[in-house]
Amino acid sequence: MERLFDTRVRIVTGKGGVGKSLVALSLAIVAARRGKRVLFLETNPPESVTRFLGKPKLDGEPRLVYENLWMAGLIPSEAIREYALMTLKFKALYNAVFENRIVRYFLRAVPSLSEFVLLGKLWFHEGERSGDAPKYDLIVVDAPATGHLISWLRVPHVFDEMMPTGPLKKSARDMLDMLLDPKRTKLDIVTVPEEMPVNEAIEIAHAAMQHRLATRGLTFINRILPPLPDALVATLHAGLAGADGATQKRFAALERTVATREHWRQLGEEYLQRLPAADLKRAIRLAKRAVPIADEAAVMALAAELEAQL
Ligand SMILES: Nc1ncnc2c1ncn2[C@@H]1O[C@H](COP(=O)(O)OP(=O)(O)OP(=O)(O)O)[C@@H](O)[C@H]1O
Ligand SMILES: [Mg+2]
Repeated sequence: MERLFDTRVRIVTGKGGVGKSLVALSLAIVAARRGKRVLFLETNPPESVTRFLGKPKLDGEPRLVYENLWMAGLIPSEAIREYALMTLKFKALYNAVFENRIVRYFLRAVPSLSEFVLLGKLWFHEGERSGDAPKYDLIVVDAPATGHLISWLRVPHVFDEMMPTGPLKKSARDMLDMLLDPKRTKLDIVTVPEEMPVNEAIEIAHAAMQHRLATRGLTFINRILPPLPDALVATLHAGLAGADGATQKRFAALERTVATREHWRQLGEEYLQRLPAADLKRAIRLAKRAVPIADEAAVMALAAELEAQL
């Protein structure tokens, strides 16, 4: 479990479609079940993970979804408004500045402002306190896929370099302090045993160092094909070897399917060998289900499988 709680912010990324959202959600569920106060933040609310749970979509305000587990979406328009209110302090001033059409036009023209304020919102929640203790023990971010993730986490560097002084520079510095402190933030990577997702996992790990995005954390290998029992394959082959021609013909498709499946499984394992050996050794492996994960029970089963390996 220490591996999960060695930092307060976990940013979960990987190639599109590999299961980032489900892995991030599983991590949040596991931590909440262990009594931690958890905030799950998702960056693409139109595709909300709540669809897997049969719950309504998230909005910007954290909502208690399970015991100890709050969930919210990182929504650019809301975050820009909140950031302005926080920085400018007064609503009247916000209305004067941000509701002004010319200023709104300018804001839209500032590249990366929405990415910037989304990080600002993460930073805000990380600093939230309830009494003497942090409000959340763990914040799990269901982050964008590779390319977008890299440009997202580059944004505070750019603002820091660009701004000579002022509130945006201070915010950028605050964000970098959070992102670059291994005690505060880790970047977790999800992949699957296929060529492109493995390449992207390597690319993110490299970018994390080269561009100083954040410290690398956990590696998850999702959708692993469980090997067929040796006995089953051997029985099939032995049975067919001694069978008459008609029987062999009848079972030919089955034999081919088994062989193809095994071929794909081995190929997948070969792709995984490209990962740094240390990552591969410590990776958390999650089995591919026979049907896509689509309901609460399947999500809970994935969380249990993950928990057993922490
Ligand atoms: N271990 C698994 N077994 C079976 N199906 C899975 C598994 N993991 C994920 N899936 C399926 O893969 C699809 C993608 O999962 P998910 O939405 O978590 O990926 P993602 O990386 O967040 O995608 P996106 O890049 O679109 O945000 C889902 O439909 C889900 O049901
Ligand atoms: Mg997703």
